[in-house]
Amino acid sequence: MADTMPTATLSDTPRGLRAAAALLAAGELVAFPTETVYGLGADARRDRAVARIFAAKDRPAFNPLIVHVPDLASAERLAEFDAQSRALAGAFWPGPLTLVLPRRADAEISDLAAAGLPTVAVRAPAHPLAQRLLAAFGGPLAAPSANPSGRVSPTTAGHVRDGLGGRIAAVLDGGACPVGVESTILGFEEGSPVLLRPGGLPAEALEAALGRPLAAPRAGGGVAAPGQLASHYAPGVALRLDAEAPGPDEAWLGFGPLATRQPSIDLSPSRDLTEAAANLFAHLRALDALAAAGGVAGVAVARIPETGLGRAINDRLRRAAAPRPR
Ligand code: TXA
Ligand code: MG
Repeated sequence: MADTMPTATLSDTPRGLRAAAALLAAGELVAFPTETVYGLGADARRDRAVARIFAAKDRPAFNPLIVHVPDLASAERLAEFDAQSRALAGAFWPGPLTLVLPRRADAEISDLAAAGLPTVAVRAPAHPLAQRLLAAFGGPLAAPSANPSGRVSPTTAGHVRDGLGGRIAAVLDGGACPVGVESTILGFEEGSPVLLRPGGLPAEALEAALGRPLAAPRAGGGVAAPGQLASHYAPGVALRLDAEAPGPDEAWLGFGPLATRQPSIDLSPSRDLTEAAANLFAHLRALDALAAAGGVAGVAVARIPETGLGRAINDRLRRAAAPRPR
């Protein structure tokens, strides 16, 4: 796709929000901050607008999108909730939880946004600027992460411009995303909650609210599990996970201090998983740039505990380390 369109940077002002809402109403794409990562928003009711998302991201069109709404009442107009899903929305919305639910027959949602599935993924984001944008626009926003397909998700407006500048009408700048990894995606198989993607809401919090453990999705189950491609979140540089220390031509992505002469960045000097999640994608980008400049041949990554947000961090790191297709 030709990169020809000027990409405006809009600010968190009444004027910036009016401009963003007007572009969305005209069927254009506007990237906006959420508490997890920046989303690439389009009017979820219009196939033409949604189609632009796939074109801008170079994304395979069979991958369904998350529909963003201000609250549970708006979500109930699109999806069938039951007592369990309503309780989860009540406990964790607005916030980093996406629910995959049966789509209502009368839901005003583009078939393309739902990729023709009988389900729809819905989320009420907590970021105040996302909420202001939803209010100014007055409709549901289909929004995948605002990165070209296969690259790590953006956590600043600058990341969005690096990946999609020239391909989208505007980015609404809300600074750095506080959570830093994508939302946790929960689906239901025969009424039982299944974790489709670990993310910004720790699975332990969901299990505590549900009073039962979450199942893993059935292998080969009907649902198109998110991020099917192992390398969905891959940066260009080779990653070596669960490392003790960097080798002579490697940079170090640490979790807590380590004495090394190699170039290094620490996800969290105090070994705090929340801080590490917030830093993850920005640090991967920085190391990718270092490798691209010939600084190092690869990146050794410290072991991250597999609890809480560590599950989401390890999931993204494993995808980033997976061999890339094509
Ligand atoms: O934090 C987030 O979730 C961010 C922000 C912008 O909200 N969005 C995000 O979207 O990460 P995206 O498109 O990059 O990832 C959404 C995932 C996709 O992997 C897709 O397969 C899955 O959600 N998904 C969407 N609808 C689905 C459905 N009906 N059934 C199963 N998976 C679905
Ligand atoms: Mg994504």
